[in-house]
Amino acid sequence: MDARALDEGHLGRAHTRVEGPDKVTGRALYSSDRVGPETATAHAALVTSTIARGRITGFDLEAAGRVPGLLGIFTHRDFAGAVAPVKHLMAGGFANSSHRPLDSEAIAYAGQIVALVVAETQEAAAAAAGAVRVAYAAEPAAGGFDAPGAETVRLADLKPHHEDIARGDAEAALHTAAVRIEARYETPVQHHNPIELFTTRAAWDGDRLTVHEPTRYVGAVQHGLAAQLGLDPAQVRVVAGLIGGHFGSKFALSQHTALVALAAKRLGRPVSLVPSRRQCFTIANYRPESRHRIRLGADRTGRFTALAHEADTVTSRFDPFVMEGAEVTASLYACPNIRTEERAVRVDRNTPGPMRAPPEVPFLFALESAVDEMAAALGMDPIELRRLNDTAVDPVSGKPFSTRPLMACFDAGAKAFGWSRRAPRPGSMRDGPWRVGLGCATSVRPVKIAAATMRVRLGPDGSAEVACAHHEIGNGITTLLAMGAADGLGVTVERVTVRLGDTDLPAAGISGGSSTTTSLMNALALGCGQIRETLAQAATGQGGRLAGHDPGRLRLADGRLVAPDGAGIALAEAVGPAGVETVAAFVPEGGDHETALAGLRQGHIGLSLGGGGKAVSWGFGAQFAEIHVHAETGEIRVARLTGAFAAGRILNPLTARSQLTGGMIWGLGSALLEETVLDGAAYRNPDLAEYLVPTAADAPEVEALLVPDPDDRVDALGLKGLGELGIIGVNAAIANAVHHATGRRIRSLPIRLEDVA
Ligand code: MOS
Repeated sequence: MDARALDEGHLGRAHTRVEGPDKVTGRALYSSDRVGPETATAHAALVTSTIARGRITGFDLEAAGRVPGLLGIFTHRDFAGAVAPVKHLMAGGFANSSHRPLDSEAIAYAGQIVALVVAETQEAAAAAAGAVRVAYAAEPAAGGFDAPGAETVRLADLKPHHEDIARGDAEAALHTAAVRIEARYETPVQHHNPIELFTTRAAWDGDRLTVHEPTRYVGAVQHGLAAQLGLDPAQVRVVAGLIGGHFGSKFALSQHTALVALAAKRLGRPVSLVPSRRQCFTIANYRPESRHRIRLGADRTGRFTALAHEADTVTSRFDPFVMEGAEVTASLYACPNIRTEERAVRVDRNTPGPMRAPPEVPFLFALESAVDEMAAALGMDPIELRRLNDTAVDPVSGKPFSTRPLMACFDAGAKAFGWSRRAPRPGSMRDGPWRVGLGCATSVRPVKIAAATMRVRLGPDGSAEVACAHHEIGNGITTLLAMGAADGLGVTVERVTVRLGDTDLPAAGISGGSSTTTSLMNALALGCGQIRETLAQAATGQGGRLAGHDPGRLRLADGRLVAPDGAGIALAEAVGPAGVETVAAFVPEGGDHETALAGLRQGHIGLSLGGGGKAVSWGFGAQFAEIHVHAETGEIRVARLTGAFAAGRILNPLTARSQLTGGMIWGLGSALLEETVLDGAAYRNPDLAEYLVPTAADAPEVEALLVPDPDDRVDALGLKGLGELGIIGVNAAIANAVHHATGRRIRSLPIRLEDVA
């Protein structure tokens, strides 16, 4: 790895998004936008189940059949057996759910797809879908925790790799602790609502299938579809243009993708599906509800002596997706006696999945609320309690943290936020009719990194191209790659073309786990380093214009290949008329090269932990919230959010801050607004009128500070990624501020005015 390849220049400085102008002028293409010949494309609509469990006993298609422009109504009678089973991505397969709709008359959850209707226009498809009548025989369904029929499974029994943590004797230490906190916390169901819906467009050319879908893993969709439809992966091309947000959705292969492809095949026409917002609550993944019991023991000085974290989270009957989070809460603070127990509760719902910082958001709400409760019980400042229990070593594994800037984040954040003006006693700060509360909480997230292959090309005219089958999800990776290639190849950002989101490009992994920057920038450094090396060897070889120079010290800069003494040759001469091209294959430290690359080329998920197994590498942050609670009405307003974050080397402070502040505002929504209400096993508020997210008027002053975090152990470039760090800890910071304002400890999210009025 030639880490120096990306050493200087554009990286590290603010740069606006290179695709920004296309996005704001409407030129940017998303998957359901004009991606094929409009006249030939047929439009699909879904019919979804109104019962949660049971079976279909019949269809009345007469009214639907009379809708002008109808091309076909496909049900299990048409598609049973047509889609071969594919396992969940987390179980070694490709799918976000292994459930197969339209395979039989069985209904496994509310909102399951029961028919795919295709017509000449989207309006006709929607009208016909609305006219389909389905008769069911319903059976009792378990909708969530406490429902009859819900089945609790120990995680250790469900997932072979999971181990509950037992270090020391937590029960005995809790028994003898001088100060003890025991509390139960709850978080609700939350649903993904990216602006771009979960669309699919499928078109056949003979036996070759092209799918346009906003997925964050084109490779998994390609290989999953091939397995489902009995095709060679080479017959399937998956294209994901710009993606209008995923945040954990658009995860692997969707259940509707193969159905759209089958309809396109039967009709001999491209078919485009744009499901409704309401349907996106049940045809995709979501954050399941969770319950936590935390017991925390400390001595009189505040040193933690025992931590027990028991957690239950919901999952579906048929998939192994579970939010596992106790490994982070167990490792966060110094503590000699730690016990965790995680359980999954299987219910009759669609399979949950990741949502921005999947486990850390609910698990740290619980732990960081409990830490605040402990500070109150001890009469200590909550930041000083965290400082006392800070640790340079992971208390569970005994490995060192590669860096541990947690308290640097608290110090920087406290200063910017004005923590020193906080009067310790709850309920003691007022602003007219408003009670004022200041709260804080920790944000941490393990660093993830994945293998990636990437083609890098440098032309004689100073143009360059970077290409791989990864994705622009709105996080700014296109901009980082253009900046990095400009630095690594000595050209301008404007001359770099970045191509992503297409299985025809060199294989890369999932846009997830905040691993995009860590993985792709390491692959880019490798590719730029290989090009520099090739050119330097040629130029310094016998008869070369730079013969006699040390090839290792030549650099590409300002359109030239240059030596330290200033001697150099123009790019056109260095690369020759055809230009130079390489395909870099990056594999994270500690990974087996062949296995990692084979997995990547077969569309499997391959995220590994930063730090190469020798150190524990996390991103860190300290979140601060000032909230105002109206003394009479209980109205809760967030006045300010301040976060200070340390996440390794920051490559573009502008897009980094955008990620962090966006996450913080989402955290506000999670703490005060977002909740999918369950009615039995159905979702009662599946639309943006009743599923509340923050509007611009709810967003307070938000400040994200970047704390230096040079880390030479996490990876060759010192990168940690921060796509998910910004949301973590905001729930607890707000709940802790509510306690400070009102003296009320709210342990169940979201916090509503009726909780504090
Ligand atoms: Mo994430 S929501 O683990 O990409």
